[in-house]
Amino acid sequence: DRSIKIAPSILASDFANFGAECEAIEAQGADWVHVDVMDGHFVPNISFGPTTCAAIRPHIKGVMDVHLMIAPVDPYIVAFAQAGADIITAHLEAGPHIHRTLQAIRAAGAKAGLALNPGTPAEAAAGLLDDIDLVCVMSVNPGFGGQKFIESAVAKVARLREMIGDRPVHIEVDGGVDPVTAPLVAAAGADALVAGSAVFKGGSVARPEAYGRNIRTI
Ligand code: DX5
Ligand code: ZN
Repeated sequence: DRSIKIAPSILASDFANFGAECEAIEAQGADWVHVDVMDGHFVPNISFGPTTCAAIRPHIKGVMDVHLMIAPVDPYIVAFAQAGADIITAHLEAGPHIHRTLQAIRAAGAKAGLALNPGTPAEAAAGLLDDIDLVCVMSVNPGFGGQKFIESAVAKVARLREMIGDRPVHIEVDGGVDPVTAPLVAAAGADALVAGSAVFKGGSVARPEAYGRNIRTI
């Protein structure tokens, strides 16, 4: 399914009201709920862990898309799968054995995502394309919402779309996605768009129904 999925990131929402925030964005047309997990080690910020994911799960009807910005990953995969993650995405840069990590994610019953930092080339994913369900192109350095979109992500998306061919692999873009940058990455071949600030804090795009309408006119 190559239709565009809008995945609001609750990192930009009210942390005291995750349940209500998830229900609100789904009611307003979100396709996936993007959940950013940060450990203060792989990235210089701390968010929350599997217990919080389990608590919000009943408030999400659709896909819970969990983005792990943690290292190591492997000791926590089962906990996130048991918390109800549909997609678990790990960073290529998070350890020496990403292939093993991706296998463990699938073995735990979730779809496997591979995230690439802005400095990691598309070609780094070449040997992993049969082992993933999603590749996440980071268009900011991970750790914080509200950063400026890094333009080289557009060419990376196009290259990955070529490399993926007819495999059933989603291309997600994460960071600085808004009504200006969303059409660029969608045209390059992205089919899942994460948006934190643009959905929860943006002026004219404060809610995803406006945001979604914008990118669906591409
Ligand atoms: C960054 C996170 C992103 C972030 C996106 O480390 O992975 O998901 O919340 O936020 P915006 O859309 O504000 O760049
Ligand atoms: Zn993310």
